[in-house]
This record gives sequence, structure tokens and C-alpha cells, in this order.
Amino acid sequence: MPNRSLFKAGIVSPSLRRFNSNKTEDTDKFTHFGYKTVKADEKEKLVGGVFSSVATSYDLMNDVMSLGIHRLWKQHFIAKLDAGKRLHSAEPLHFIDVAGGSGDIAQGLLEHAKEKFGDEVSTVDVVDINADMLNEGVKRFKSLDNIKNKEERVRFLVQNGETLEDIPSNSKDVYTVSFGIRNFTNIQKGLDTAYRVLKPGGIFFCLEFSKVENPIISMGYQQWSKALPVFGSILANDYDSYEYLVQSIEKFPAQEDFKSMIEKAGFKCCGYENLTFGVATIHWGIKV
Ligand SMILES: C[S@@+](CC[C@H](N)C(=O)[O-])C[C@H]1O[C@@H](n2cnc3c(N)ncnc32)[C@H](O)[C@@H]1O
Repeated sequence: MPNRSLFKAGIVSPSLRRFNSNKTEDTDKFTHFGYKTVKADEKEKLVGGVFSSVATSYDLMNDVMSLGIHRLWKQHFIAKLDAGKRLHSAEPLHFIDVAGGSGDIAQGLLEHAKEKFGDEVSTVDVVDINADMLNEGVKRFKSLDNIKNKEERVRFLVQNGETLEDIPSNSKDVYTVSFGIRNFTNIQKGLDTAYRVLKPGGIFFCLEFSKVENPIISMGYQQWSKALPVFGSILANDYDSYEYLVQSIEKFPAQEDFKSMIEKAGFKCCGYENLTFGVATIHWGIKV
């Protein structure tokens, strides 16, 4: 059950949902949870358990798991997107960062918009299915003093990215999702919803673990992946959650397959850029 008190902190909007309030139409079907096959309607709860468990150690473990490289990937992701209200534009941009967890992408987006374009008016909704992860984002934003009017511009919402039921259609200019979409029970449904909430002309921008094609690099990467649950066990006393994280990466579609799914949702001008030999990939598409 989400902790309601965190939403009284002043920089959040109280739109709360229980983890299991958004049943999908696939409730009678099966899906994967890491390497395990589980009922589709159970996956949401299991993923919720993983992220509740890792929430407080999440940023540290991200650094350990990626040797700090995730920070460079995220910086590049934000710089490549290069979003912010241009001087000649009267309207602020409305960002949504889905599976936004500890809020680092949202922070980076607003800081980039300010530094590059002097934009101190654009807004961001940080959306996640897990209130414990969002709580880390709330803490992060509370400690920031460089985001003007953050109470009005930043909202934290507990929402399932597959449905985003409190987000109106055609309301967002930029949809970002970073290392989140592989955890969705129904990824295609999440992409269809991204298309729904974006305005025509809006951009979908996704950072996710992907497939390494070079066989030698791939072998080294696989060995590293095997060690990650052990690090999870030592640093966070949590072998199982980190084992799930590694398995969920392996289960995620390869670059071309994911690109096809983005196109299937209706996006045009789709493309991707591999980072660090394809360990991670940036995918994008435009709603025309
Ligand atoms: C690996 S973390 C990524 C956090 C952050 N975006 C980052 O780049 O570090 C994955 C996040 O996805 C969230 N998540 C998983 N399934 C979700 C869903 N169906 N809808 C919204 N968020 C979801 C988890 O709660 C978790 O916060």
C-alpha cells in the first residue's frame, strides 16, 4: 500500500493507485518474471516487490552494477533528446517520465532545459507503479534548490505505465522511460499508452538494456551479469531482486524487435542508438 504521507510533502500530487488496481485484459495469460513463468496478473505484484526491496539502495546498486556508466548513458540520453522550451515558443513543454523511480531523469531533463534554453517553466510528471521508488524521487527533489517553482512544476504519481489512467490523451510533449519498460507485464500496451498520451508531434524516448552483438564483448558481459546478484547480496542483502533484474534484461527484445513494437504502436521516424556495444540502447519515435 503506498505511503500516503509522502504525498503531503508539497511537491507531489495525490493521485494514488494500489499496485494491483490496474488489471490488464491478459489476467488469464502467462508471462515471464525473469526466467520464471508466472500468471500475467501476478507479475505486477512481483515486480512491485522487487522495487520496494531495492528502492533505498537503488542508486548505489545502479552505480555498482554499471560501474557508474549508467550516469554517462543518462547524460547522453538527456543531451541527445535536447528538450526544453525554445525562446520563441510561448508554451512550456510537458514531460512525462514513466517508471521514473528515483527521479534522476526528471531532474536531468529540467536542469538541461534550464541550462540550455533558460527554460524554468516546463513541467514534468514522474510516474511509477511503486510508491517506495517514487519516495526516493521525492527525497531527491526536496533536496534540490536549483529548480524554480518545483512544487508547481513537478508531480509524483503512482500509475501503471501500461495504462497511465490519470494522464489525458494528447497532453504530453515528451515521454521518457529509462530502464523501466522491460518490467512492464505488457510492453506493447505500454507503448500504445505512450502514443495515446503524447500530443501530435510529441516524442517517445526510451533508454533500456539491450543486446550486445559482438560475441567477445557479449561473453564478458554475460560473466559480469552472473556476478551481479552476488553484489546485490553483499551490498543490499538481496540476491533474488538482482537476479530478477539480470534475467529481465535477457528477456527484453533485441533492438530491431523493440523498434518494430514502437512502430506497431503508431510511432514514425523510429530509430535507435546503441550505447557501450549495445549493453544499453536509446530508442525513439515521433507521434505524427
Ligand atoms: C530499474 S528502475 C528505473 C528507475 C529510473 N527510471 C532509472 O532510470 O534509474 C525500474 C522502475 O520501473 C518501475 N516500474 C515497473 N513496472 C512498472 C509499470 N508497469 N508502470 C510504471 N512503473 C513501473 C519500477 O517500480 C521501478 O521504479
